[in-house]
Amino acid sequence: MPMFSRRTFLQGSAALGGAFALGAGVAARDGAAPDPQVLTAQFADARIAADGVTPKIMTYGLGEAPHASTPPVLRMRKGEAYAARLVNLLDEPTTVHWHGLRIANAMDGVPEMTQPYVYPGDSFDYVLTPPDAGTFWYHPHCNTLTQIGRGLAGVIVVENPDDPVFDAEIVLNLRDWRLGTGGKFIDPFKPRDAARGGTYGTVRTTNWQREPVFEAPAGGLVRVRIAATDVTRIYTVALESAAAKVIALDGNPIDDPFPLDRLDLGPGQRMDIVVRMPESEGQTATLGNYRGSHPWTIATFRAAGASLKRDLRDIAPLPANPIAEADLSIAKRIPIELTATAEHEATPSICGSLGYTFWAINKVPWPGDTPDPIAPIEELKLGGSYILQISNRTPHAHPIHLHGLSFRILNSNKRTFLPPPTDTILLLPDEQAEVALVADNVGDWVIHCHIIEHQKTGMTGYFKVV
Ligand code: C2O
Ligand code: CU
Repeated sequence: MPMFSRRTFLQGSAALGGAFALGAGVAARDGAAPDPQVLTAQFADARIAADGVTPKIMTYGLGEAPHASTPPVLRMRKGEAYAARLVNLLDEPTTVHWHGLRIANAMDGVPEMTQPYVYPGDSFDYVLTPPDAGTFWYHPHCNTLTQIGRGLAGVIVVENPDDPVFDAEIVLNLRDWRLGTGGKFIDPFKPRDAARGGTYGTVRTTNWQREPVFEAPAGGLVRVRIAATDVTRIYTVALESAAAKVIALDGNPIDDPFPLDRLDLGPGQRMDIVVRMPESEGQTATLGNYRGSHPWTIATFRAAGASLKRDLRDIAPLPANPIAEADLSIAKRIPIELTATAEHEATPSICGSLGYTFWAINKVPWPGDTPDPIAPIEELKLGGSYILQISNRTPHAHPIHLHGLSFRILNSNKRTFLPPPTDTILLLPDEQAEVALVADNVGDWVIHCHIIEHQKTGMTGYFKVV
């Protein structure tokens, strides 16, 4: 049950310091409620840019010192209860959304809709059991452009004891920062860009570092979990100087893993690949972004030690997640039209408004997080099968994310490869796609573009599952 422990918690928190190191205290013993992992949303100074320390990034401390050099990764286990206590040491309200986890609505982190705002000095207890294994992520759902833009976003690894064993694992959190000279934050967006593809950051990072190098066993098989947590950027990922296979997309396994060639990864999406490291010590492979005319380096993998002589064929496909199949013969069709809308000023809200409306879903621009939300796009019956007919009537790509429910892409006028079930579909310009889902999770589930400027300037709606 969610609860506000108010300020009293903070008095006790010093005594708990250090007790909740990464991964500790997480597993439920004998079905008992697990100890919460403390997630302290707080400010820190961080070295992101080349020319100065960035003051006041926002980060999560995991019950100890704030993370100021690397974004904290959370580890959970498939089917096991996990608890986190968000403690807000920022100067504005916040929440945590567990992107891609199909959990109870009350834990979903959308202010007003699923929980109260967590005000500065307050805390909120989240308890959830991830039903699916894979790579997910967590971020606030309040003043989201500023809060994610300043650093609040981390990868979630949901482990499955039945997964194949790799020689190493590397988690990559891809994002940009909007920094000016001396590493200071500049305006988080430009209105004219919000009305188009979104505003890009100025410093590109992987795990908050510029072009980091990771060591891994020579000739070994490395699982690389990649999450695009940027508020705007769509990546086109490819690997040079080593072979790799794609084993999961958006947390869900690929039955028949295929070689990584070039693959798009939009904001909110994840990709798991297995890299066969180069044969000899010191050789490198480079993961790059090939979108646009100037490819650049995301990360370099450097082979270390004597070769393990492994083969990409040694790895069996990951076990599937238990996502229900929609019954297409009875599924109800729901049109979802993504459009631009007449520009007007938006109403202010506690969780931040960008001050403009540019976008709409089914002609309705989302008015912001209010105690009195607009009507749902549609009321879905618990257990019912649905086909969303999503039409992108704009010349821009939109990564559309649905909370609480995963869906399968049935067809599209723009793609031949249909990925496994997902929570986020990157709709290309003018794309029309049909996706199917079973409404097997009760509650109000937001659907929105994960280019946060689009989300916050109208491209949001929700389904009510009853
Ligand atoms: Cu990853 Cu509603 O968000
Ligand atoms: Cu969008």
